[in-house]
Amino acid sequence: MLKHTLGKPIFILLFVLASAIAGAQVRTTENFDKGWKFYLGDEAKASSPDFDDSGWRQLNLPHDWSIEGKFDEKNPATPGGGALPGGIGWYRKTFIVPETAQGKSVFIDFDGVYRNSEVWINGQSLGVRPNGYIAFRYDLSPFLDYGGSNVISVRADNSEQPNSRWYSGSGIYRSVNLVTTSKVFVDNWGTFITTPQVNSLSANVNVQTLVKNLSGEAKKVTLLTTLYSPNGKVVGSKASTFNLEGGSKSVIQAMPVSKPNLWSDINPALYKAVSKVLIAGKAIDQYNTNFGIRYFNFDKDKGFSLNGKPLKIRGVCNHHDLGALGAAFNVRAAERQLEILKAMGCNGIRTSHNPPASALLDLCDKMGFIVMDEAFDMWKKGKNKFDYSRDWDKWHVRDLEDQIIRDRNHPSVFVWSIGNEIQEQWGDAAKGDTSGREITRELYRITKRLDPTRPITSATNDVNQYNNILRSGALDLIGYNYNHSKYKSFHQDWGSDKKFIATETVSALQTRGHYDMPSDSMRIWPTAWDKPLLTGNSDLTCSSYDNCHAPWGSTHEETLKELNSNDHVSGMYIWTGFDYLGEPTPYPWPARSSYFGIIDLAGFPKDVYYMYQSEWTNKPVLHIFPHWNWKEGQTIDVWAYYNNADEVELFLNNQSLGSKHKTSDMHVSWRISYKPGTLKAISRKGGKVILTKEISTASAPAKISLSADKMKLAADGKDLSFITATIQDTNGNMIPNADNLINFELTGDAEIAGVDNGSPTSMEPFKANYRKAFNGLALAIIQAKEKAGKVTLKASAEGLQSAIIELQVK
Ligand code: GAL
Repeated sequence: MLKHTLGKPIFILLFVLASAIAGAQVRTTENFDKGWKFYLGDEAKASSPDFDDSGWRQLNLPHDWSIEGKFDEKNPATPGGGALPGGIGWYRKTFIVPETAQGKSVFIDFDGVYRNSEVWINGQSLGVRPNGYIAFRYDLSPFLDYGGSNVISVRADNSEQPNSRWYSGSGIYRSVNLVTTSKVFVDNWGTFITTPQVNSLSANVNVQTLVKNLSGEAKKVTLLTTLYSPNGKVVGSKASTFNLEGGSKSVIQAMPVSKPNLWSDINPALYKAVSKVLIAGKAIDQYNTNFGIRYFNFDKDKGFSLNGKPLKIRGVCNHHDLGALGAAFNVRAAERQLEILKAMGCNGIRTSHNPPASALLDLCDKMGFIVMDEAFDMWKKGKNKFDYSRDWDKWHVRDLEDQIIRDRNHPSVFVWSIGNEIQEQWGDAAKGDTSGREITRELYRITKRLDPTRPITSATNDVNQYNNILRSGALDLIGYNYNHSKYKSFHQDWGSDKKFIATETVSALQTRGHYDMPSDSMRIWPTAWDKPLLTGNSDLTCSSYDNCHAPWGSTHEETLKELNSNDHVSGMYIWTGFDYLGEPTPYPWPARSSYFGIIDLAGFPKDVYYMYQSEWTNKPVLHIFPHWNWKEGQTIDVWAYYNNADEVELFLNNQSLGSKHKTSDMHVSWRISYKPGTLKAISRKGGKVILTKEISTASAPAKISLSADKMKLAADGKDLSFITATIQDTNGNMIPNADNLINFELTGDAEIAGVDNGSPTSMEPFKANYRKAFNGLALAIIQAKEKAGKVTLKASAEGLQSAIIELQVK
């Protein structure tokens, strides 16, 4: 029986606390990413411990073999999947397990393997996992040689393609951990922390802990849970003692916390729960869980509020690839993406359309993003020949359960999405196809059972009354993809009690640095979703004036206006924050990555980034475009995004072209006749100058300039510096169409992890020490090794003055 110490003399608790601190024999969690062997291809005997892998390549995880390949239209992934190779790959790691681990439990935790993985320990198969986005654990203990050498082998099979509507990557592309615990321990993802009552004065924190006993003997166990505030102070503690015969036991401990530091997008305050398992006063396991204290509401009329304050979710959808790094997860690469988005005023991420890396959610917790955590892009009815629909029957319950249990403590997660544009939306109920309604209800039940605290939605695109998912009656939030013109009539269409979120919006198309005029004429490319693009630009570009979008979407401004003017719209997730590999709508091959991003594949913002920044932040913004290299006499539209000012005045070669101010649009523009020289914009408020921006006509390319997002790297083998190379004239003006081939030369203990330039059509490899500039810019990603020292990157190009940048690895 579970015994609570609530009300018991405080000295008992103090005694337990003191002994818990004394006991040191707790779990170890070892990052297991280093020192793997890899072979691209199938190898029938590679699961055997005696297999000779000495000829295999040595590498560290996370690893994505597809990103190392060559673009080819004929790759089975198709350009929609990024046109990179798939195939089968093997990984092996030989490791020593100390004798002292005998009698303990040793687990291996994979955060994601794409896809169809099978794992063996010393030749013994531990299981298969078809889903490429799901985290899983295996117990190695029964099969280990304690004090000896052990071999873990992993086969990943991404040969059957297409199986995805975007680039998936292949292999063990997320981190692996080796976890050693005593036989009585807190289970994997074994805590569930909720805050059933919160206000600014106090909160009730409920910690539910699953303690497991694999010792084969009954044990008298104490579970001691201690809560730490964001600044490390103990704010709550509770001990519960119980007998655990075998199997596992769920223990609930409730603790009040006074004056909670509430988590929000602008104050991402993280509490920590430390769960200790004690036997005879000795701590034998410790498990830490970060959590946040916050309350929120989705209101049918007023939309979303966080901690009692109305807040629009200003989100973006992202796929999981990290551009030139492919799917191989890297904390710094993800953090950089989130930093760029935060600076734009974004406060939300939709993990389209799959469970993300756990570390991405850790970052969202720390940085303050409101996450929609999505499970599936398809259910039983598939979208691609070899996709997850084939595994649906056998795996969907387990996969969904594991996702919810893994992610439900993250304060950043606010909404579960059980699917994106699911085929089961359609299906004629009159003819007996009720699968859409049934599966919605089933997934809803599973999700609610495991987490009653968050609303559940599904991203639907056909928002009509015959939509089976919407008609299931089983969603907490009705989620529209696109259909922004129907936001207004939402309550008429679905009932006055229904709550709304824009799960996916916009799908505008832009190539960084490319401009099609006149800027006020719209390109809807293709003209309809089921039509090929017949016109378009011969160089496969899209315009950056926010005047090009997919037929199901809109311009950025159009949807933003609907978000702003409809209170019941809780927020939106724009398609997409970053460009991603695959889905090169509106173009066919050789386009191979997307045009939807507000930020390109290399992480360089497109112009519209500053529109959001001007609308969504208080940081003073004045951004003018396009570049200033055109033909004499050509009619050019000049746009400005600005904020914190009443007007913007534009000058060409010091001659005023007049002042403008925003009315209903989120930009101002001038139509002028091009003359080379300098375009200058001044924003003013009450007559006072706020900002001045200039763009000058660039002359001939003369030099390269390098700048790094980070000059000091950690010597941890993972940290990255993103270095931008800009092609400039002698005066430092960027050459707007420069495509010079840049060679990168690295000295010191580091490596070039990838190169890019943001072009959606480049056929150059991402793993290289060279890259052509695209519209003036290129990127080199430098990865630290484990040795401290100086690292220098030299960038050179024919006919240009080269540049050098020095980084410090510590
Ligand atoms: C949506 C879909 C996304 C992406 C996008 C492109 O309909 O949910 O995955 O395909 O369109 O516009």
